[in-house]
This record gives sequence, structure tokens and C-alpha cells, in this order.
Amino acid sequence: MRVGVLTGGGDCPGLNAVIRGVVRKGVQEYGYDFVGFRDGWRGPLEGDTVPLDIPAVRGILPRGGTVLGSSRTNPLKRQDGIRRIKDTLAKEEVEALITIGGEDTLGVAARLSGEYGVPCVGVPKTIDNDLSATDYTFGFDTAVGVATEAIDRLHTTAESHMRVLVVEVMGRHAGWIALHSGLAGGANVILIPEQRFDIDQVCAWIESRFKVRYAPIVVIAEGAMPKDGQMVLKDGSTDSFGHVRLSGVGEWLAKEIEERTGKEARTTVLGHTQRGGTPSAFDRWLATRFGLHAIDAVRDGDHGKMVALRGTDIVRVPLAEATTKLKTVDPKLYAEAGVFFG
Ligand code: F6P
Repeated sequence: MRVGVLTGGGDCPGLNAVIRGVVRKGVQEYGYDFVGFRDGWRGPLEGDTVPLDIPAVRGILPRGGTVLGSSRTNPLKRQDGIRRIKDTLAKEEVEALITIGGEDTLGVAARLSGEYGVPCVGVPKTIDNDLSATDYTFGFDTAVGVATEAIDRLHTTAESHMRVLVVEVMGRHAGWIALHSGLAGGANVILIPEQRFDIDQVCAWIESRFKVRYAPIVVIAEGAMPKDGQMVLKDGSTDSFGHVRLSGVGEWLAKEIEERTGKEARTTVLGHTQRGGTPSAFDRWLATRFGLHAIDAVRDGDHGKMVALRGTDIVRVPLAEATTKLKTVDPKLYAEAGVFFG
């Protein structure tokens, strides 16, 4: 059997570990051949392929990014998108396609499998950890590690200058990275998209922190919003799945804090540093296991499924179900962190 593999959407530490797991088990145990498609759905749309065999996956386990390349190409936006993908798969004699991606990439895989008879198996990826069907997505742990290290470093410089330091982390609809790194790094305020924040309350926390001669660290997710405001957009542009580009809420917040409290405030936007570089041990472990279980699903002919982590087990869930519900931060979990605010 010949199996296609693609990685789509924003990249994420651990993608290469999945690819390696799929290919190693597929070749060694099942005698399958593989072909890689470049840059997400662009590969099968345009017939752009890359050889994928055991030598091609040697040494990639600790490497960030994806050896297959990625893009946010949406094939469903083109009238001839489905036909072109089917033609490429037929030409390449691909009998099953492993799609590694977030809600957008997997959403396309769900429709291809369910409505158009293209046999897909999905692997969930996103540093945002916001896919409901899985306890964790790989990439998240690495992103939290990067953000926590940044917060640790910012504490000492904030204290030297007695300034407010605002750290903007990724998280469009879900505040998982903000919450986990904020708790791990001892932030004094954590702001997430799920709960609109009151700027007066934020300033009160900041002032109380200064009273005990400590400089506050504020962690804010890029999608967080004040009570009476909207998401801060980068420049109004959107990607091909229609998502607006975010970033800027950290700058806005620092300015508000300066104006309202008279304290100096600066912002650090961690941006793509959270997505780049070597994956953590946990992400390599999870991504490798996802890869091994995805190729097992292909062998079983269990198409239209996504592998997911439940506890320490890897299970299979319907792709359609897996991509419809966002996993957001439970208010109870967020409330737990409140004891450290101010
Ligand atoms: O993968 C999701 C994400 O990390 C979001 O948190 C963020 O808004 C987005 O990617 C930014 O991605 P890009 O800069 O690649 O469009």
C-alpha cells in the first residue's frame, strides 16, 4: 500500500516526530510505501510531492518545524479543489492520506473522508491545545516551556527597573498557553480570551503588587478582550480559512496601564518563538505515539478518524466530531489561578 502524508496549518514542534513514527512503523512493520505532500493541502492540489522513506526521516525527531513544509491552503475554496486532490492521489497511487493539522486542516480531511470518499486519518496538532477531542495536542508543552522561560527572565529585569512587564502569548480563542505558563512562571495577572477582563481590576492588581515592592508580570493571550472592547487585530488581514491575524493587545494593555497607574510598562510579544525550535520530551513522546497509532488506523482501514490522547491511552475518534468543538479554559480552572493575582 502507498500512503500519503501532509502537514497543514501553523507549524508546531513535534510534526517531524509524527512523520517519523508513521514512516518507521509503516515501512518496518507493514511494508508500506510513502509519499510526502509539500505545504499542507497545496501539495495534493498541485501534485507537489517529496520522497518519504526511512532515510528521509533519519535525525528529524528533535527538529522543530516540518520537513514536509506547511501552509494554510484551503482546497475547498477552489471549485476544482476536490477533483485536483483526487487526481493527484490517483496518479500517485495513494490509498490513504495521513493529515497532520489543526481544526482547519482536519476540517478539510473530515469533509474529504465523509463526503468525497477520500480515505483520511487525522493527527491533531496545535500549540493552542484547543481541540476538544484530545486531552493534549503536541506542541503545547513546548510552547508553554518557551513562555515560562521568558516569564522567568522577565521577572528579574522587571524587578531591577520596577516596571510592569506585559507578555503577550499565542491563543486565539483559548487561553491554555497563558494559563499554564502564567501559573508556572508566577505571573501576577493572567488574561485569557474566555473571560473578558476589567482594566480597572487589572490596574488595581498592579498597584497592589508595587505596594509590596515587586514588579508585576502580566501574561495576556493574543485573543483576550477588555470588558467593553474587541479583539485587537494585527492589520485586518485574514488567512485562507478566514481567520483574522491577531497581535497587539499586549501593546494596547501596556499603554492603558501606564496612563492609568503612572507606572512604566513594556510589552514582550513572544509570537512565533512559541512555535519554533526543538520539541520538549513530552511533545516528542506524544507526537511519536500519535504517528504510530495513525498508521495503525490506516492498516485497519479505519478512515475518517483522528487519533487522540485520553489519559495515557491513544484512542480513535471520528474526524467530524473532533473538529467541531473548541476546547476552552474551564472558568473553574481559571479561578484557581486567581489566588496569585495582584
Ligand atoms: O496555530 C495557532 C496559532 O498559534 C494561533 O494562536 C495564532 O493566532 C496563529 O497560530 C498565528 O499563526 P500565523 O502567524 O502562522 O498566521
